[in-house]
Amino acid sequence: MNIRYFEKDRIFKIDTDHVSYVMAVMDDQQFLEHVYFGRRLGDSDLRYLLRHQEPPFLASQNPGDRGKVLLVMQHELPGELTGDHREGAVTVRTQAGHTALQPYYVSHRIYRGKESLPGLPATFGSEEGTMSLEITLEDPVIHVRFLLTYSVFEDTDAVMRSMRIINDGGQPVRVEKALSLSTDMGCADGDQRPWRLLTLDGMWVRERHMNYREIGYGFQGVSSNRGETSHQEQPFLGLVSPSATQHAGEVYGFHLIYSGNFRGQVERDAYDALRVTLGINPDRFSFVLQPGESFQAPEGVMVYSREGLGGMTHTFHDLYRNHLIRGIWRDKKRPVLINNWEATYFDFDNEKLLAIAREAKECGIEMLVMDDGWFGKRDLDVSGLGDWVVNENKIRGGLKKLVDEVNALGLKFGIWFEPEMISPDSDLYRAHPDWAIRVPDREPCQMRNQYVLDLSRKEVRDTVYDMVAAVLRSANIEYLKWDMNRTLTDFGSAALGAENQDELCHRYCLGLYEMQDRLTRDFPHILFENCSGGGARFDPGMLYYSPQIWCSDDMDPVERLMIQEGTSLLYPLSTMGAHVCVVPNHVVGRVTSFATRANVALAGTFGYELDITKISEEERAAIPNQVALYHKYNDLIRRGDYYRIASYRENHLYDCYEVVSKDRTEALITYVQVLNVPDDRSRILRIPGLDPDREYAVTVEHTGFTAPEEDRTVTLPVGPRARMRGDALMYAGLPMPDFRGDFRSALIHLEEV
Ligand code: DGJ
Repeated sequence: MNIRYFEKDRIFKIDTDHVSYVMAVMDDQQFLEHVYFGRRLGDSDLRYLLRHQEPPFLASQNPGDRGKVLLVMQHELPGELTGDHREGAVTVRTQAGHTALQPYYVSHRIYRGKESLPGLPATFGSEEGTMSLEITLEDPVIHVRFLLTYSVFEDTDAVMRSMRIINDGGQPVRVEKALSLSTDMGCADGDQRPWRLLTLDGMWVRERHMNYREIGYGFQGVSSNRGETSHQEQPFLGLVSPSATQHAGEVYGFHLIYSGNFRGQVERDAYDALRVTLGINPDRFSFVLQPGESFQAPEGVMVYSREGLGGMTHTFHDLYRNHLIRGIWRDKKRPVLINNWEATYFDFDNEKLLAIAREAKECGIEMLVMDDGWFGKRDLDVSGLGDWVVNENKIRGGLKKLVDEVNALGLKFGIWFEPEMISPDSDLYRAHPDWAIRVPDREPCQMRNQYVLDLSRKEVRDTVYDMVAAVLRSANIEYLKWDMNRTLTDFGSAALGAENQDELCHRYCLGLYEMQDRLTRDFPHILFENCSGGGARFDPGMLYYSPQIWCSDDMDPVERLMIQEGTSLLYPLSTMGAHVCVVPNHVVGRVTSFATRANVALAGTFGYELDITKISEEERAAIPNQVALYHKYNDLIRRGDYYRIASYRENHLYDCYEVVSKDRTEALITYVQVLNVPDDRSRILRIPGLDPDREYAVTVEHTGFTAPEEDRTVTLPVGPRARMRGDALMYAGLPMPDFRGDFRSALIHLEEV
């Protein structure tokens, strides 16, 4: 890791172990240009990569054709309307209504460590293991300054970038666009075929499916204008070279550490150059800066891998595990929980919960989580949100009594909240109807019979926070699920003036961060799980506050293969909320074996979400063994390197992935046969990431079965207690179990002997 400025050539060079990011100050007009981002290079003058370095191709020396030069320039921070017709990264409107902007290099500083971003989640690192470069640019006409900050850590190859905009002029200005990332790059591949754009898209119960499209001319990308990350899109852009595979080839990944509206775009111009931008969605956004005020844009992550998608995944996983997630639970095994949502929905009382807790304890489960319905008047989803006081008709004797009884059984206790919401039928709404986000004189849109609270207002945040905190202090609560079950619409705040209404979505996000920051400071011992109607707010911003996030309301293991494949492309397995459900599955109605449901959930945080008092004796009997497997393998799953071996999304037959310990002495392979077809015996899969010179013992774990007719044991074609060399496993492959049936699976353990 190093960051240097080469004075003579005016080049900035940011190096990690395997990656270089190079910029140069060009021309006597002080343009900051992007020169290179890719595989690590030695030190040399790379300015030959810029097509306009010699006169007459300098903008300052070619005023007659200045536009031609600016059009092809690789701008590090493109402004607006200065001859470059591609999408700019920043727009600032003056009092006079103009948006012309050209930021020029002014100065820079290189320092050890990294400064935090006021009010926003951001990566962090130790003073000695982190370096940062802050480059100051300025538009000399409107006197607005831009601080671009780049940071790198010694143990990952990611390059971080954030931006602060400061109004140094004497007049207010309006920031209308402030995209955190903007990179002009060539993306040429030897075979000249276009690169592909990889995005993670979906909907409720089908979140973050991987999708590829060819990068065509013009714009393509992702966005959210729903006030949250959304089920539909992820603030991620992947650029995948034509020859890239899981394990080899060039891949770029761009990700935004933010939980509100975003836009990510790839623009391919007529010269086949790509401009990649990612940041707060300019749609429904603007921010007024009075003289002297500043605006902080969120942090973006840039990853380059020449080891295919898997290499990119390893960088994101290590970055988020070591430099984003915080708190005492980050590196700890989480308690195996049972959640009552799909077991009871709103129909529960203390007796029902205790019955579940008793049975759960017998099976080795460690925590009971009481989901939606315990507060206010809440027997359906039509009322009660905002009234965070326990409903003693359901929880008779009060919350403390219930929690004490659950604790006495030997279980921890967790609870559900939806602090951002308000039901029209609630005491809170009757007292403060103007606290809901809405536009005056218009009937606001209800979703799930609820409105969104205006978290941009301090009095709203404080009132709700105090209610939540009072409940948390009233009993021994050790886990909190923070849910959010609708998108933002009707963008209007009673507290903002006409000039500032477009600030609402970003201010809402800052308010959310402030509440979660307060919560994690006041209750540092609580295991915190974010959630949004399933996985609509699975984003790096939320990971700064909670070490785990609920992945999806779809717990069917087949659907989960695709959801968890896309999620794990960027997010460590330790963050993926995953539970074992009942069958037929409540979303898709599919019947799968209990073992397969557990095997797939073991790739995440692991828990159960079913009525344990009603499942079959055989299923119940399988739980202790599944819990034991969780304890046996969760350290490996949380800390290891994740490899994708085969994808059901691609082959429509089976799925296979693996976690390998960092020292390569141990690995756990999960194999799921979704469809049994004749000739499935030829599934000999190569197992990556091992040490080719070591020998491994290969065993199959027993995870319990549902149907009596299913096999009791799973054997591998190589025999029940095989020993195999790493090179044979890696290059010749391991034949997978031969199941006679669909939805069957196995956990295969490799251990150095
Ligand atoms: C959506 C969540 O994803 C579910 O797990 C559950 O908590 C419900 N909300 C409760 O309303």
